[in-house]
Amino acid sequence: MPETATAIIAPPLPTVWPQFGQPLQLGVMASGNGSNLEAIAQAIHRGDLHAEIRAVIYNNPGAKVADRARRLGLPTVLLNHRQYPSREALDKEIVETLRRHGVEWVIMAGWMRCVTSVLIDAFPRQVLNIHPSLLPSFPGLRAVDQALAAGVKLAGCTVHHVELAVDSGPVIMQAAVPVEPDDSTETLQARIQQQEHVIYPAAIALAAIA
Ligand code: GAR
Repeated sequence: MPETATAIIAPPLPTVWPQFGQPLQLGVMASGNGSNLEAIAQAIHRGDLHAEIRAVIYNNPGAKVADRARRLGLPTVLLNHRQYPSREALDKEIVETLRRHGVEWVIMAGWMRCVTSVLIDAFPRQVLNIHPSLLPSFPGLRAVDQALAAGVKLAGCTVHHVELAVDSGPVIMQAAVPVEPDDSTETLQARIQQQEHVIYPAAIALAAIA
């Protein structure tokens, strides 16, 4: 069986990045596992991304991302959406929290809530999201299942600027992975996530110099 290739689709990164200037001040928003948070933290640690993670906001008590963040020595803030009367009220608190921590770039990494203009307008063009499909295909929940059900031969992931509609906004970077005939949700998701961990740090750097 020939080895299958993975395509990463992006303009080339300049080699001078990330040595110059102040580190990017990141705030990460996550709801669950936090593997993308960890990948970004590792990229920073390796020197591949000139940035600092100022705060990790999560919305589900007990989410694994909080344990990861604490292990990485990162400040965590639980903002449980169930305790806010509206999406706007939650986003107002998110904006205040991010500002209090000196955040410039908002990195949604498995944040499974719709956001409002309260957040988007507070950080113009500086709210990024990752989604496990080649957008604009398969936005929303269970993107990997959607791809399998559609019978596509290429799946992948996308980092994009966040606009109001779910999983929409200008694409920064994508990675494509092959769908194998015997793929399950889990095997395809794992292959996609490997690429998420590669492109998210690179896409953050790319967005910052664009
Ligand atoms: C990632 O696969 C990300 O693409 C997806 O949630 C997962 C979070 O994984 N996001 C969305 O579906 C957003 N629409 P992680 O918690 O291990 O980083």
